[in-house]
Amino acid sequence: MTRNEAEIILKEHRQEHVLRGFDALSEQAQQELLTQISEVNWDDLALAGVQTEIPLGEISPLGAVEIAEINQRREEFEQAGYDAIRKGKVAALLLAGGMGTRLGLDKPKGELNVGIDKTLYLFECLIHNLMDVTSVAGNSIPLYIMTSEKNNDETIAFFEQHDYFGYPKEDVAFFVQEMAAAVDYDGKLLLEAPGRLATSPNGNGGWFSSLVKAGLLEDVHARGVEWINIFAVDNVLQRICDPAFIGATILSGKVSGSKVVRKVDAYEKMGVLCLEDGKPSVVEYYEMSKEMAESTDERGNLLYAFGVILNYIFRVDKLEEIVERHLPVHVVEKKIPYITEDGTPVKPEAPNGYKFETLVVDMIRMMDDNLPYEVAREKEFAPIKNLHGVDSLDSARELLIKNGVEL
Ligand code: UTP
Repeated sequence: MTRNEAEIILKEHRQEHVLRGFDALSEQAQQELLTQISEVNWDDLALAGVQTEIPLGEISPLGAVEIAEINQRREEFEQAGYDAIRKGKVAALLLAGGMGTRLGLDKPKGELNVGIDKTLYLFECLIHNLMDVTSVAGNSIPLYIMTSEKNNDETIAFFEQHDYFGYPKEDVAFFVQEMAAAVDYDGKLLLEAPGRLATSPNGNGGWFSSLVKAGLLEDVHARGVEWINIFAVDNVLQRICDPAFIGATILSGKVSGSKVVRKVDAYEKMGVLCLEDGKPSVVEYYEMSKEMAESTDERGNLLYAFGVILNYIFRVDKLEEIVERHLPVHVVEKKIPYITEDGTPVKPEAPNGYKFETLVVDMIRMMDDNLPYEVAREKEFAPIKNLHGVDSLDSARELLIKNGVEL
């Protein structure tokens, strides 16, 4: 894009301020800014401050395979899962591209030390969890790690520095997700430095298309991977590539599976798995009517009882089929560091604008079917979103200790 073209497009969208001070930039910085401008998604920007809720279709409950049944059929499930793992059909994929703004670290979230008397990094915890499975299976599992432009180099350096926490390096591949420009509450593009737009990772929904763009689908095929288990960076207790979960999903004949926990009450703030127009779907707590949240079956159990915990398994051929499909864009209010007109950097204490993200839950809607698989929350759900309070480092430490992990 030339400067002229940039001027035209910025004028059209009333964003002329972006080129202020352009002449003072180095030639390279000018080029980089022009590239950033050419990559702005103007359709997304038009959503800023506009109500974007997508109307729900017809919702009906979706039963889970529950813990009692899992315990009864554990051997059968595990056997099927280990069989797939040993044949190399399963890969793990860590979503580590987020900014973790609520935690407020100035490094990748996975570098958080959850230890108390000893050091135990989040990344290390996750690798240990995965190695619990590989050591029984007797073979390694490919691990893909999605980072962002903001944390990729630091994340790779951290794994290198710690020798991949004992995981075979040749089975780990990093790839970078895409970025999206952020705006203030008036819809104006923010700058994070002179001549540089404030950008942030574009949400976790684009993980598969980013994997493809990075050329890693060839690796997936070359290794014979048929299933990918994706998981968040911040749930220290989660089981990764859990053979029983994998086996149950494969035996169910479905194209995807979701780990779920039973909600503590009707109003717990979790996305709930259900059917929408006959297809699996995650309905967010704020999208649920009171009637829906409180509805029960004849035994008094909640009909919409199972919340998702960002641990899913997808069949690769189904992912390939939907990769070109457009995921809805969510406009989220966040704290976005920026510079003022006179170049003063500001690190806001409260949200000051919008970011644009796609979410993995919307991918569930594109699946033909999905197996909700219940796990015990006190054993598998300890997300760290904040330092203190709900879903925090404090609460996760408590749960880790309860589960016998030495800290
Ligand atoms: P969160 O919803 O917790 O988002 O991500 P976040 O950006 O990390 O944290 P906050 O909201 O700013 O505090 C859930 C999972 O999805 C990943 C995160 O790394 C985490 O594992 N994620 C999120 C991405 O990989 N990319 C993104 O763009 C966003």
